[in-house]
Amino acid sequence: MNDHVRIERRGALQVIRLNRPEKKNAITRAMYAAMAAALTAGDADDGVRCHVILGQRGAFSAGNDLADFLAVATGGEGGQEVYDFLLALAKAAKPLVSGVDGIAVGIGTTMHMHCDLTLATPATVFSTPFVDLGLVPEAGSSLIAPMVLGHQRAFALLALGQGLVAEEAKAAGLIHAVVDPDALDDAVYELAERLAAKPPEALRIARDLIRGPREAIIARIGEEAEHFRARLKSDEARTAFMAFMSRK
Ligand code: COA
Repeated sequence: MNDHVRIERRGALQVIRLNRPEKKNAITRAMYAAMAAALTAGDADDGVRCHVILGQRGAFSAGNDLADFLAVATGGEGGQEVYDFLLALAKAAKPLVSGVDGIAVGIGTTMHMHCDLTLATPATVFSTPFVDLGLVPEAGSSLIAPMVLGHQRAFALLALGQGLVAEEAKAAGLIHAVVDPDALDDAVYELAERLAAKPPEALRIARDLIRGPREAIIARIGEEAEHFRARLKSDEARTAFMAFMSRK
C-alpha cells in the first residue's frame, strides 16, 4: 500500500486511484510498484471481476515523475517498476476501465491504450511529449497508437507531441466516451459494474479475442524500454529534465 496510490474494493471492482494531487499525480517508482502489485493481486482474486483506474479531478496524471527520470539521467538506477507495471497492464486478465479528467501526460495517456473502456471529461488533454524530452514512446504506444489512430494522427501525438482533447480522442477511437466531470467516477463505476455482471468466462474469451495476441505488444514494450533506458542517459533528455526542474 502506498499513500499516493489508493486501492479499494467496490463489490467486484478493484479501484486503483492515483492520489498525489500536489504533484499532479506524477508517478513515482513506488506508485508503479503499487499499481503493478494491485493488478497482479486483482487478477488472482476470484472476487475481482474488473479493474478500474482513476486519477484526481483536474489531473489524471502528469506522467512519470521527472525527478525520478533525472535521477536515472544522472547515474542512478530505476526503470524496473515502470516496466513491471507495463507488463502487468499488458497482461491483465480482467477488463480495465479508466476515467480521466484534465492532465494526462506521457504514461498518463499511454496506459489507457491498454484499457478496454476509457471515459474522459471535456477538460481532458491527452499528450505525450516524449520526443521533446529527448525520449521515445513507451507502453507499447508506438505499436498500439498507429493501429488505433492511423500513422499520421499517431505520429502527431507521439512524435510531434500534439495533444488530443477528449472529443478528438473519442473521434479517433482512443477513448469510449466523454462525460461531465461531476459524473465521471459514477459513469466509470457503472460501466465497470456492467462488465463485472457478465458471465466471466464468456467475457474473458471475448476480451482475449478482441484484444488479439499480446506477444507483439509485450515485445514492443521491451524494445521501447531498451531505447528509453538509453535515452534517459542522453544529453538531450538530461537537458530537458533539468530545464523542467529549474523552471520556477
Ligand atoms: N514530475 C515531477 N513533478 C511534477 C511533474 C512530473 N512529471 N508534473 C508536475 N509536477 C509537479 C511540479 O513540479 C509542481 O511541483 P511544486 O509545486 O513542488 O513546484 C506540481 O507538480 C504542480 O505542477 P505545475 O507545473 O505547477 O502545474 P501546472 O498546472 O502549471 O502544469 C503540467 C501541469 C502537467 C502541464 C506541468 O506540470 C508539466 O508539464 N509537467 C511535466 C509533464 C511531463 O513532461 N511528464 C513526463 C512525460 S514522459
